[in-house]
Amino acid sequence: MRRIKRGMPGEWKQWMESLNKKTMEVQIAPSILSADFGKLNEEIAEIEDYCEWIHVDVMDGHFVPNLTFGAPVVKCIKSKKPLDTHLMIANPGDYIEDFAKAGSARIVVHSEAVDDLPGILKDIKALGVECGVSIKPKTPVSDIADVLDMCDEVLVMTVEPGFGGQSFMADMVPKIMELRDLGFGGDIVIDGGINAGTARVCVAAGANVLVAGSYIFGAEDRVKAIESLRG
Ligand code: DX5
Ligand code: ZN
Repeated sequence: MRRIKRGMPGEWKQWMESLNKKTMEVQIAPSILSADFGKLNEEIAEIEDYCEWIHVDVMDGHFVPNLTFGAPVVKCIKSKKPLDTHLMIANPGDYIEDFAKAGSARIVVHSEAVDDLPGILKDIKALGVECGVSIKPKTPVSDIADVLDMCDEVLVMTVEPGFGGQSFMADMVPKIMELRDLGFGGDIVIDGGINAGTARVCVAAGANVLVAGSYIFGAEDRVKAIESLRG
């Protein structure tokens, strides 16, 4: 993994510019957590032509204090766009096969929920899907530094996971720069409190994928909301 010196403003930017441009273009991942579950596929059909991913929040009521759905519901999702499945569950290793079979293009596990992080990332890859690691606000980047070169995605939580519609935690932004400083060239995905203003801050810091739930699904014009995130 290529490393650059820390504390040299602008260097990480130059380095990012040298990366494959397509990878670093801003991508939008609407979170269906804020969609109407009663007509999920219609909700997805309305926005999928305008985004790069569909973000799927799986919660178990243990790892986070909220419940959503499991693999049988994910299997019913019809979308042309890849599913970025964010597992906010305890013992994710017990369920990765189900979520891979249900159609996930990428499976993201929380570092706090896993003992053997390299092991589960290898297992996800062995299922033929991409893998990622997510960190809660209190978890430092240093906790996942050793597995960065195995990850297609690092998801930085900018709210406490569990609920949509919370306020963006600006003090998480340095984690984005830290990841790029460490030489991480994969997708940096920001999740929680994203709107047109916070999106700009995250992209300037080096993030390239923005998850947004309430900002998109709560908007009168959802397509316009997505476009506003691209800045
Ligand atoms: C929260 C979820 C998010 C959530 C974001 O735990 O991981 O994906 O949908 O919602 P907003 O965009 O409303 O903050
Ligand atoms: Zn999420």
